[in-house]
Amino acid sequence: MRIAVFSTKPYDITYLEKANDAAHDLAFFEARLSPETAPLAADADVVCAFVNDDLGAEVISALAETGTRLLALRSAGFNHVDLAAAEAAGIAVARVPAYSPHAVAEHTVALILALNRKLHRAYNRVREGNFALEGLLGFDLNGKTVGVVGTGQIGEVVCRILHGFGCKLLAYDPFPNPACTALGARYVALDALFGESDVITLQCPLTPETHHLVNAETLAKMKQGVMLINTSRGAVVDTRAVIQGLKSGAVGSVGLDVYEEEADLFFEDLSQKFIPDDVFARLLTFPNVLITGHQAFFTDEALTAIAETTMANISAFARDGAPVHLVCATTGR
Ligand code: NAI
Repeated sequence: MRIAVFSTKPYDITYLEKANDAAHDLAFFEARLSPETAPLAADADVVCAFVNDDLGAEVISALAETGTRLLALRSAGFNHVDLAAAEAAGIAVARVPAYSPHAVAEHTVALILALNRKLHRAYNRVREGNFALEGLLGFDLNGKTVGVVGTGQIGEVVCRILHGFGCKLLAYDPFPNPACTALGARYVALDALFGESDVITLQCPLTPETHHLVNAETLAKMKQGVMLINTSRGAVVDTRAVIQGLKSGAVGSVGLDVYEEEADLFFEDLSQKFIPDDVFARLLTFPNVLITGHQAFFTDEALTAIAETTMANISAFARDGAPVHLVCATTGR
């Protein structure tokens, strides 16, 4: 199969070439997939895309015209794909449903710990010879209530780790996970989770129901000084509302690995340029905000699994006409 791989970084090439083992013909493009770059995939049977590639109707129709038959996503989330357009164009969509829930869950807990104990500030202080502790006061996580929104694979591991810390766990998910209940997590209505949690962490997919799940109205239901963590998808949070919450002190701290408008920022080195996004730039001014650039997935184990599952999807498609992990346009799963 001829495969056009978009949004390629050097680490993608390393892991994908190893998993491919010369079975398919891989063409790597650094560019993000967009209407302008879609012609790069001319004559490719398969387009391999990542989280910030544009897989809207226009791109899909352009890909269909030049013979693409499979979209092999290197991600679990597929909220950026117009599934109806893909189905209408006869393009199958495959994803990597699970690669390492541990990678994302561990990064989630890293954000909680770093924000709570202000490690990002302590690191800079100590390097400047400032060993004062004022402003670095944290709290014991033991005994605190953590609300986990979405208890699928990642949410379950988050629950497991925080259970080990002695946290009380509240959970919200339309499909409760018995493994979380067994850990002592109590499934409650979303409003109750918002009202009772000291820390709220988002591990749900981005869907029409979860779009701006955290907004001015829901923030008003949360505890004064709540810690908010988002390692799911940026648009689950209304960033402007969170900024207002930070300014008023209602929100105590925020840890983000994803951002609604991240496509124009993340995965690129902009250190010699400027940040064109004023909302994002405002977020960076708060000492109690810690942002990482969509790196929660970024472990050796996860990259290996992503590459292997992606190539398995493509090989199965070449052999049987269907990938291993097909995304169904009707059920969206
Ligand atoms: P999963 O499919 O195993 O679990 C998602 C859970 O969310 C399911 O239990 C589902 O029932 C639940 N859910 C669906 N709608 C909901 C709603 N309205 N409210 C609350 N819960 C709801 O997915 P997994 O592997 O745990 O990943 C979760 C999300 O994490 C992905 O969809 C993706 O957006 C994000 N992610 C982020 C990464 C990063 O690097 N920051 C890497 C991988 C995934």
